[in-house]
Amino acid sequence: MINALDYRTPEHPIETLFVARWSPRAMSGEPITDEEMRTLFEAARWAPSTYNEQEWRFLYARRDTPEWPLHFDLLVEGNQAWCANAAMLVVILAHKVFAKNGKPNPVHLFDCGCAFENLALQGTVMGLVVHGMQGFDYDKARTTLSVPDDYAVAAMFAVGQPGELADLPEKLRERETPSDRKPVEEIICEGKFAFNDTT
Ligand SMILES: Cc1cc2nc3c(=O)[nH]c(=O)nc-3n(C[C@H](O)[C@H](O)[C@H](O)COP(=O)(O)O)c2cc1C
Repeated sequence: MINALDYRTPEHPIETLFVARWSPRAMSGEPITDEEMRTLFEAARWAPSTYNEQEWRFLYARRDTPEWPLHFDLLVEGNQAWCANAAMLVVILAHKVFAKNGKPNPVHLFDCGCAFENLALQGTVMGLVVHGMQGFDYDKARTTLSVPDDYAVAAMFAVGQPGELADLPEKLRERETPSDRKPVEEIICEGKFAFNDTT
């Protein structure tokens, strides 16, 4: 498996784990254990959220189960090409309103992003592939998976055992390289907005 640390150099000192996490597509097709699955969701569980709302929900499908095609068929073709070797596909839902009073929760998607990153970092520690996805049919996810109106469909992700380049369709092999990041100076600004990249 490719080691992201061979491709990436942080500008400032940080924990190696942040740099080591990346989004490979090559997976072997081997399963993950029930214990591994629960450990991943355990990591998500400890994410911070507004008022400790914990508004994330995860709908999962494991390979070779009746649920698998429900999730797999949501994906765009480009994602199906490499997710065919995943061990688990997950749809992340975000409860849009506060459980205690039904009022809109402005950070429901933000909190779910925190939970996903926790899970992705845990997966990295465990040597697993965790790869986020927006390339799927959001409306179909809602209907196929019976998602109620007060939940947003936030994103999907694939989990799997790492594979070799040969496990990928040929045109995806050249993209299987850990990416770099914008410099810190391009993403921070003291005080008022003064970035140059408005559209
Ligand atoms: C919410 C989300 C949606 C994404 N959607 C897709 C996708 O549909 N297909 C895909 O191949 N990668 C997808 N990615 C992976 C990103 O392209 C990847 O995270 C980004 O290029 C940074 O690379 P890294 O995760 O390897 O550091 C997604 C990532 C996130 C967090």
